[in-house]
Parts: sequence; structure tokens; C-alpha cells
Amino acid sequence: MKKQDFVNKILAYHPGRPMQEIAFAYAPSNIALCKYWGKRDEELNLPETSSLSVSLADRGATTLIKLIDSNQDEIVFGEHSLSAASQFAKRVSHFLDLFRPKGQGFFIKTDTNIPIAAGLASSAAGFAALISALNLLFGWQLNNKELSLLARLGSGSACRSLWHGFVEWHCGQAQDGLDSYAEPLNEQWPELRVGLLITHTQQKPISSREAMKLSKTTSLYYKLWPEQVAKDLPILKQAIMTKDFKTFGEVAESNALAMHATMLTAKPAVLYWQPETLQAMYAIWQLRAEGIPVYFTEDAGPNIKLLFLAEQADRMQAHFRSLEIVAPWHFTEKLNN
Ligand code: DP6
Repeated sequence: MKKQDFVNKILAYHPGRPMQEIAFAYAPSNIALCKYWGKRDEELNLPETSSLSVSLADRGATTLIKLIDSNQDEIVFGEHSLSAASQFAKRVSHFLDLFRPKGQGFFIKTDTNIPIAAGLASSAAGFAALISALNLLFGWQLNNKELSLLARLGSGSACRSLWHGFVEWHCGQAQDGLDSYAEPLNEQWPELRVGLLITHTQQKPISSREAMKLSKTTSLYYKLWPEQVAKDLPILKQAIMTKDFKTFGEVAESNALAMHATMLTAKPAVLYWQPETLQAMYAIWQLRAEGIPVYFTEDAGPNIKLLFLAEQADRMQAHFRSLEIVAPWHFTEKLNN
């Protein structure tokens, strides 16, 4: 199925009235604890496996959108107007084509408080904020499940950024992808903390999209990935329910390392780690050897995310000076749910 057919199917019962002149939406970034890595359908961004994430509260993206009388979109990112030829602008305009009224362009201004393209899931927040803003602009009145289905077309992980807290993306099995959307887990863990150890903010050498494709098509180890997720996901959910932090941390860390194993064994190999990444990993393992419960996860980038409980916050801040600590259940940004 083509993206456009998928969109038409979802919007068939949402004529979109009344339209707003301008719309504005926020979406949090999310960090996967059990990763999405590899697609069964690249056109529709359908994943090989389900995944589970935690949203980063007030760390995310805000998007303002309006229609303009132009045959070109005007995309402003932060303070900078993007050239239509840039990779990012092309990707956004391509997504907007799915919803574009004939002969019109969009003006978009996106601001994020997370470094882009450094493995901090900014595209997830960006596409989730964008689809939420489009929903308001056109007055579709779609619910979050429908928004999740549409956000997925922009970037797979974006389908998890429509909610605060823990969110599960069901991989689904249908060819048309209508059963592949995210849902919030009905569990809270207010003491949980995510520490962002941002050592690199530059553009990564290869996108997660390309890296997951390469892993799937060239790594022998990728065959084991679905098995790994089938094992990790239920244990992780159980650990969340029982607030078993040790199991939670162990599974999240091992799941991230397994994902990186599929990259290391790809041809050519993909290695996002930098010396600082390894330094942080060793430091975390050393702290654990001293009996301090701290774990890490890492995405397609060199930056490590620490997982710990509130009682360790001061210690972690002292140990990792530049650490930015996020409390996922402490947010001021209200979402449509
Ligand atoms: C490592 O969602 O960026 O962050 O669907 O191709 O846009 P596309 O990929 P993307 O991949 C995210 C990969 C990850 C793991 C995760 O977020 O689950």
C-alpha cells in the first residue's frame, strides 16, 4: 500500500472542519527502552517488532503551522530558515505532500530543546508535533491512535511521541498497517529518571533509517533480533508493573547493546560510539560494581542515556557534571490525552 492511500483511508471519515488559520502543537521526545530496529515495510514504516519507550516530559518539539499561497513550503527550524534543498526540509515537505491542499504551501516553524540528529529522537518529537498541529489546522479531530498511525509515516518512532509516560508501539501484522500504532501503558513511575549525557551534538554519519536497513539486510545477527525483543518486552513490562528497577535497567541496557550488536555485524559495520560513549559505559558499570543502581540505554548516536531513580539524582549529577536529568512524570506541557 502507498502512503497516500493509507492517509486517505484514515481521513475518509474526517472531513476537517472548521479549519484554523494557524495551529500550534507540542510533542515530547521519547527514548526507547526496548528498541524499534528494522522494518517489514519501508513505505509505511511498519516495524519488525513491537517497542516500548518513555517520553521525556517537557523535552521535545513545538511546531507552528499555517497555509501559505506559494508553491513551496517555508520551513524555519529554530532561528534558521531551511533551504528547500536541505535533507530535513525535503523530508518534511514530502510528508506534508500527503496532506497538502492543491496549489498551497505550508509555513512551519519548529523549535526543539533537544539536539537534533544526535540520537536523541528529535525527529520523533518533530513529526509527532507536526501531525498534531496539522490535526488542529485542518480540524480533523483525530484521536491519538489515529495521529499515531499518521505520525508513523513520518518517522516510525514518532508514533510513540503522542503521549507522556511509557508508550508501547504494537508492531501489528496487517499489510495495510492499520494495526501498527502506539498506546500508552497504564503505569506510572514518578521516581524514574532519565539522564541525558550529551557529549556530541553534530550530525551523525549515518541516519538510523539507513543503519537499521543495513543491519537487517547484511547482519547475520539481525535474525536474532525479533527473538531478543520477544523475550525482553514482556519482562520489561512486568518490571515496570512491579517497579523492579534492577530488572528494568538490566533489560533496557541489554536490549540497547543487542541492537548495537546488529550494527557492528552489518557490512559495512556501523559504530556510533565515540571514546566518550565508552568512557560513560565503563563509568556506569563501575558504579554498578560499587552497588549503585544505574543503567544506560543508547540509540543510533554516541550519546548515552542513564536510567536511575530519583534517590540517586544528586550522586549522578556529581559524577556526570554535564548530565541533564529528566523526570518523565514531571511535565507542564499538556497533550491531547
Ligand atoms: C534507535 O524512528 O528514526 O531510535 O522510522 O526510519 O524514521 P525511521 O526511524 P527512526 O528510528 C529510531 C531508532 C531508534 C530506536 C527507537 O527509537 O525505538
